[in-house]
This record gives sequence, C-alpha cells and structure tokens, in this order.
Amino acid sequence: MKARQIRPNIYYVGAIDWDRRLFDALVPLPDGTSYNAYLVQGSQKVALIDTVDPNMTGVLMAYLESVQTIDYIIANHGEQDHSGSIPDVLAKYPDAKVVTTPKCRDLLMALLLVPEDRFITVNDGETLSLGDKTLEFIYAPWVHWPETMLTYLREDRVLFPCDLFGSHLATTDMYMSNEGQVHEAAKRYYAEIMMPFHTIIEKHLEKLSGYKIDVIAPSHGPMYDKPSLIVEAYQNWVLGPLKNIVVLPYTSMHGSTQRMVQHFLGDLVDRGVAVKQFDLAATDVGKLAMALVDAATLVIGTPTVLVGPHPNVAHAAFLANALRPRLEFVSIIGSYGWGSKAVEQLTGMIPNLKAEVLAPVMSKGFPTEEDFKALDNLASAIAQKHKERGFA
Ligand code: FEO
Repeated sequence: MKARQIRPNIYYVGAIDWDRRLFDALVPLPDGTSYNAYLVQGSQKVALIDTVDPNMTGVLMAYLESVQTIDYIIANHGEQDHSGSIPDVLAKYPDAKVVTTPKCRDLLMALLLVPEDRFITVNDGETLSLGDKTLEFIYAPWVHWPETMLTYLREDRVLFPCDLFGSHLATTDMYMSNEGQVHEAAKRYYAEIMMPFHTIIEKHLEKLSGYKIDVIAPSHGPMYDKPSLIVEAYQNWVLGPLKNIVVLPYTSMHGSTQRMVQHFLGDLVDRGVAVKQFDLAATDVGKLAMALVDAATLVIGTPTVLVGPHPNVAHAAFLANALRPRLEFVSIIGSYGWGSKAVEQLTGMIPNLKAEVLAPVMSKGFPTEEDFKALDNLASAIAQKHKERGFA
C-alpha cells in the first residue's frame, strides 16, 4: 500500500493490525487495531509523528524505504505500540533526533535503550519549525501515561493526539464518519483506556477548545475530518449527565445468584430503570467497561467461594475500581451456603468508586420470599435515588 496523503505533504505511514485480539494481555480487541504514524514533510525538515508496534516495524520501514531524510521523530507517548519502532528508525536515519517531553525521554531510555544524545526535549507550548510547517507541542499528561503530549500542526490545523481520541478498529477507512462507529469503537476505547483519567481529560478538552482543528489524527483507528464528532462524544462521556441505568454483572454457580439477578432485573425494569446485565463467565469485559461510562449505578451479583466473592466477580470489581467510572451508587446481591464475607471483601476492593453503597442483599441458599422482598426494596431505593438526581 502506498502512503496515503492526508493534506499536502502529510502522509499516513502506519500499520493496520487486523488479527490482534488482546492488548496488554487484558483488553479484548474484537475489531483489531492500528498503530498510526504520520510523515510530515516541511520545506526544510521532515518529521515522523509516532511509530508503530514493534511487531509491525516492517510495515513502517517499507513506507520509509523511499524517504531519504527524517530529521525528527516526534514521540507523543512512550508506550511501545507507538514508540517500539523508534530504534529501527534511528538506525536508518543516524542524524534523526527524537523530540519528546523529558519524562518520555527517560521512559524511552529505560524501555528501548535509546541513547540520551538522540533526544531533543520540548516544553509545553514549544514549537518546532519544519520550514513552511510548524509543530506545536501540547503537554497532556495521563492520556494515557504521565509523559504524554499532543502535537498540533499549525498551518494545516491537524492535531496528532496519539492515544487520546483513538479507537481499536482495524479498517481501511481513512476517517471515522458515523456516530454508530464512534459509539461502538471509540466509546469502548475510551472506557478501557481513558476513563480512569476522565477528570484530567476534562482539563485537556478545555485547553484544546482554544485550537482550530480541521483533522484529528490519533494513533489508533481512523482519523476524524469532523473533529466535533469525537470531541463532543468525549465531552459527553466525561461531563454529560449519568443515565438511569443499573449495570448488573454477575456470576452464578448453582442458580441461586442467577435467580436473584433475574428477579432484581424485573424489579428495576418495573420501576422504570434500565438494566445492562452481564454474565461474567461469558461476557466481553470491554462491553462491561462501556456500560460503566454513563451508568448511575453498579450492582454486583456474586455467589460465595471459600467465604469470598467468586473470582470472576473479584476480577470485575478490580476492573471497575481501576477504571474509575462516575457511578453514584453501588450495591451487592448474591448467595452463600454456610457463611460469607463476600460483601466485606468486595466493598474493600472498590475504594476508587466514590459512590454511595446501598444495603446489600445476600441469600442463604436459594432465595426466599424474604430475599425477594429485600431485592424489591433495593430496586425501589435505586429508582427513587435516580429520580431524585434527575437521571433519565
Ligand atoms: Fe496506544 Fe498507551 O498506547
């Protein structure tokens, strides 16, 4: 494939990874991903913006075969899916320098053993002239590591934000063009990668509102030639009102917890509350992460295993705690045989969730009428709280 031109003298030189199914040995990639790199040829200097995952260095190097000179490699982020080919590019272009933040330089020296004399570090707001094109560097920590920056190409109004605004989507489409794709691919990516940093992203969005942007060219998934599509989606995910939704992940071993979940779901729906239910033995955790972006309440369903929560449920609680969704209410339902500390253990596993914990319901064995009544009361309490908060 030839390098595709985005704007005059700006080219896509990234790699599409159609077959990758897991990122960080954790995040499911049902639609593959891409590692986007961009070549910017100014009248005097040439810059490569980000590189690709080391598994696909060959794709990038094939694009660069006919490129005589690269003066600068802009490293917006140190993670290896974008930085991993830097050593190969430096070897091909012995005079090239890596341009990055001081924190990213330190990381790249540690992760990739890049020698210190190959770096130029830049400050927030600093610019670098390529002749008729000017790169401006915008510090944006925690999207998604602490060292990250964004690069803005002033004359062409192109923003290269690396992970921010990305999506794990392998496609030959240059641009993300419909809201359905934004909802599915970009929201999933936001949920899995960006949501833990939503309060910081709020500040980055504020800062970016001062820039005129015609194209957003992230380092995963398609670009945006209508930047408002993704920027407004982020504003909604970060700042928009929570919804009248209960997320209900559960595991059941012998049917007691499942019966409680079924009853509770009916209770909530009868009271006008929407439910997203996930069987943790079968679900894609990316779907669960997406559901947590704008739901008001999480209720976890667990049986008891060796007095604690089922390991599937512990894993889901760990993820929810790490992803820091904006939930307002949390509760636990489930069952036990002879004794349980599942509630205490689970609540201890979610300290990052700044949510009100509502009275849990645990049944001894198969749920009785009394347990169903307690579930009815929990559903009523949730419906009432959602109504008071105006969640729609
Ligand atoms: Fe796509 Fe944080 O790397």
